[in-house]
Amino acid sequence: MRIDIFTLFPGWFEWFLEQRHVRNALTIGHVVDPVDLRATTPLKAGQVDDTPYGGGAGMVIRVDVVEAALAARYGADRGERRVIALAPGGRRFDDALAAELAGEPELTLLSGRYEGFDERVHEQLATDVVSIGPYVLAGGELAAMVVADAVLRKLPGALGHEESAVEESFSEALEGAPEYPHYTRPYDWHGHTVPEILLSGDHAKVREWRLERSRERGRGPT
Ligand SMILES: C[S@@+](CC[C@H](N)C(=O)[O-])C[C@H]1O[C@@H](n2cnc3c(N)ncnc32)[C@H](O)[C@@H]1O
Repeated sequence: MRIDIFTLFPGWFEWFLEQRHVRNALTIGHVVDPVDLRATTPLKAGQVDDTPYGGGAGMVIRVDVVEAALAARYGADRGERRVIALAPGGRRFDDALAAELAGEPELTLLSGRYEGFDERVHEQLATDVVSIGPYVLAGGELAAMVVADAVLRKLPGALGHEESAVEESFSEALEGAPEYPHYTRPYDWHGHTVPEILLSGDHAKVREWRLERSRERGRGPT
């Protein structure tokens, strides 16, 4: 998997790329490449944005700037590539979308700033517009990291310990529900003890208990 992230702030990803699970993924051949949107702008003095037609506060990232950045990296024909513009109002990112994106050989993430992208970026250059939640961040960098992180951990071998990705929140193994509770030592913490079933050594019963807790969480508070 190759994930190119177009951004005005490539430096934000230095920390992300150093994290162990991301380094693991890179070690086995996956690529995460931050691309500076400003580096290929066709405008003078590194300009990438402009004032909005119709007036209003803030600046808008220009469509010709994004077009030039994509063309510099991929040429005129982007083929079947998924180009995902990050925007608060887009399709909500969830585990199913992470799994879908993990099936792609390559992904492009467009990380916005200011008032966001000119709408023609969403309509003409992107294949998808994705939101990580109903709130507004200062920029798409954190959103891109969320998407890249969730997608990378779906890739075979990327975690270094396969089982953890098979049985976790929203997985098929847990019927799409949140994961069951975990406990470790101490057994008794200020009178709050660990459920006895987990100490029973009866694997079938432990499994049944965990599935039931997971289903309960999936049903939400009653
Ligand atoms: C300040 S936001 C723009 C907000 C926009 N004016 C609005 O009200 O919807 C700047 C950039 O941050 C990113 N961003 C902010 N919140 C996001 C979210 N919840 N999901 C995905 N991207 C987000 C987008 O790339 C966006 O272009």
